[in-house]
Amino acid sequence: MRKKIVAGNWKMNTDAVSSKVLADIIVEGVKRQPVSAELILCPPFISLESICETLWSRGSKIKLGAQNMHYEDNGAFTGEISHTMLKSAGCEYVIIGHSERRRYFGETEETVNKRAVKSLQNNILPIVCIGETLAERQSDKTFDVLNTQIQGGLANISIEEAAKIIIAYEPVWAIGTGVNASPAQAEESHAFIRLELAKMFNPQTAESIPILYGGSVTAANARDLFAQKNVDGGLIGGASLNAESFLAIARSF
Ligand code: 13P
Repeated sequence: MRKKIVAGNWKMNTDAVSSKVLADIIVEGVKRQPVSAELILCPPFISLESICETLWSRGSKIKLGAQNMHYEDNGAFTGEISHTMLKSAGCEYVIIGHSERRRYFGETEETVNKRAVKSLQNNILPIVCIGETLAERQSDKTFDVLNTQIQGGLANISIEEAAKIIIAYEPVWAIGTGVNASPAQAEESHAFIRLELAKMFNPQTAESIPILYGGSVTAANARDLFAQKNVDGGLIGGASLNAESFLAIARSF
């Protein structure tokens, strides 16, 4: 049985106060009615430490993730954040290679790979994001793109390390658009991704890797998406900024 995971990517939303309030409400909601899936909150960097404190002081099982991480250990990299910093703020996960980072901040397969390798070496588990644009889908390149992103992003990773990775399939055309991939489209891509992982590592490892779907997931469509054989949960953007909808999604298995 693969782990079921629902992660909230808060992106560049909330501030020091509102992020703590949001985390508080989610923690309370889970206390009232436990959730079987593993929940991961990925707030902005400045909120990691205070939310870690909230989770710890309430004995919550909810995990903390960052939205990015640099691949160097430390040094003159103004504005960047290292694995040591994330660890010290209580992070167990990190989102790597989100399409917004690829599109707006020059992230490439090479830099995605360096970050993934570094996070695994330092025991921060990467949530590696892949997915095609609308133009790529319309020109029948979805599988080529996914293949390139898997080969490039997960190069130089051992089988033992691969077993710790989480993949997030996030078709770019579905992110923040209100147009989610249909359950069948998601399943088709997830099954392809798992097949590629099996070729790259081995079938047993591929079977164990959670593959999350991301892109306009809501409380209304989560159940059908999560019911697909190869969809092991979701990476939620907009709907994770509301505790009620995030919790409803978390209960959609
Ligand atoms: P939305 O859920 O807002 O479409 O965002 C998805 C996403 O990018 C999560 O990383």
